[in-house]
Amino acid sequence: MTDLFQAPKGTRDFLPPAMAVRRYIEDAWRRVSLRYGFQEVDGPTFESLDLYKVKSGDEIVSQLFAFTDRGGRDLALRPEFTPTLARIVAQLGGGLPKPIKWFSIPRCYRAEQPQKGRLREFIQWNVDFVGDSSFKADRECLALCAALLFELGLTPNDFKVSWNHRDLMAELLVGLGIRADKLADTFYVLDRLQKLSDVERDKLLQSREFSPSEQKILHLFATEMGKPEAEQTELKALLSAPVPRGVYEKIMILQDQLSLPELADNFHWDIGLVRGLAYYTGFVFEVADAKGENRAVAGGGRYDGLIEIFGGKPTPAVGFGMGDVVLEILLADRGLLPDKPLGGPDVFIVNASDDNGLTDLWASRLRRSTFDRTLKTVIQQGLRVEHSYKSTRNIGKLLQEAAAAHARFALILAPDELSRHVVKWRDMQSRTESELPLSQAETLIRAACSGGGD
Ligand code: HAM
Repeated sequence: MTDLFQAPKGTRDFLPPAMAVRRYIEDAWRRVSLRYGFQEVDGPTFESLDLYKVKSGDEIVSQLFAFTDRGGRDLALRPEFTPTLARIVAQLGGGLPKPIKWFSIPRCYRAEQPQKGRLREFIQWNVDFVGDSSFKADRECLALCAALLFELGLTPNDFKVSWNHRDLMAELLVGLGIRADKLADTFYVLDRLQKLSDVERDKLLQSREFSPSEQKILHLFATEMGKPEAEQTELKALLSAPVPRGVYEKIMILQDQLSLPELADNFHWDIGLVRGLAYYTGFVFEVADAKGENRAVAGGGRYDGLIEIFGGKPTPAVGFGMGDVVLEILLADRGLLPDKPLGGPDVFIVNASDDNGLTDLWASRLRRSTFDRTLKTVIQQGLRVEHSYKSTRNIGKLLQEAAAAHARFALILAPDELSRHVVKWRDMQSRTESELPLSQAETLIRAACSGGGD
């Protein structure tokens, strides 16, 4: 006997309850982005392999799902959206009004070892602000990221935002004695310091050919970063030396400029945060669960050089990505996921009359939308209508079905009422019933359903 096929490692099947959660998250992403004036875009699911090799960094490249097409072209499934966005802006940049404020909700693919919060296929909200080099654009991205978390019921106690600045970090590291040509390697190592064992870390330091004095600094970072902030005494001593102190002062000015009142004290400079992607230039940030569990829920930063590297004009850009997997874990942990399926019917038709045709008649009448050809839009939405497929006329049983389907209302067509030219209308939540005259029923039903649904 053949084994049953399994879904590929690190992928998900979205059955209706999981799909409802996914839509709940995606709808919030879309809603909040539009509120902040960002417009939705998308691009291809795969790109040429080189697009990711240029500037995304070793880690992403090692996780690519790469393949060759029949024409011998090397391609890869997108592990992230930023290179696609930079490619589009490089191609069209001159013709696009600035600033460009775009968001996208692509599926992304990374051949990671699947674990909690980490899959091989995930959905990632991307927000990018292109054409403004000021801290105001960084701040707006941060504000939008926080607004999304608040929109889904989280509070500043549920998450923490850490930030750093790549260019200032470079200045600081050079000030501490790291050679300028070792900065890329230093960022790579710093990004990994807390994820590696001591042995792995030492191996990495040796493989990247750091000098003994450079290794000493990175060792110090490694040991201090694991400690609570108050106990990082050696690091603090290091930063009080003249050169690092000058950089540190610039960092504190930025901290003030970037701080958002809504984040209160929950916004910290983190010297250990450099982010794995190689294209970041200035401000970088990450949002993580306040309990320190799971990988970051969102991360991003400035990538002022990427569009130029892809052949465009020098164009400043900042943005972030937020994954659905970690966000869902965070919401579930705080009891904030909706507990009833979204998109349940507005109306469940309970037909207890002898006329079977009445069910279809009412269903099609209520489901119908009204389209305006001049405005080219639907001006009255049809309702979500469901009914039983069983032959029973037992009203009690049919109402149980309506409740199981999470219907808001039941339209009860029963012989008694119909003979008096009325229908029964039941609010499924309050369990109250009223009678609607047949001649006005459709208008009254549409009015009742127009408020309060999801
Ligand atoms: P990233 O830090 O690689 O940044 O990913 C952002 C978020 O996507 C992560 O914080 C995580 O929630 C989610 N994510 C990433 N990989 C996985 C995975 N294997 N499984 C589940 N979730 C994952 C970027 O991708 C940048 N391109 C973001 C950006 C946009 N920077 C500027 N603009």
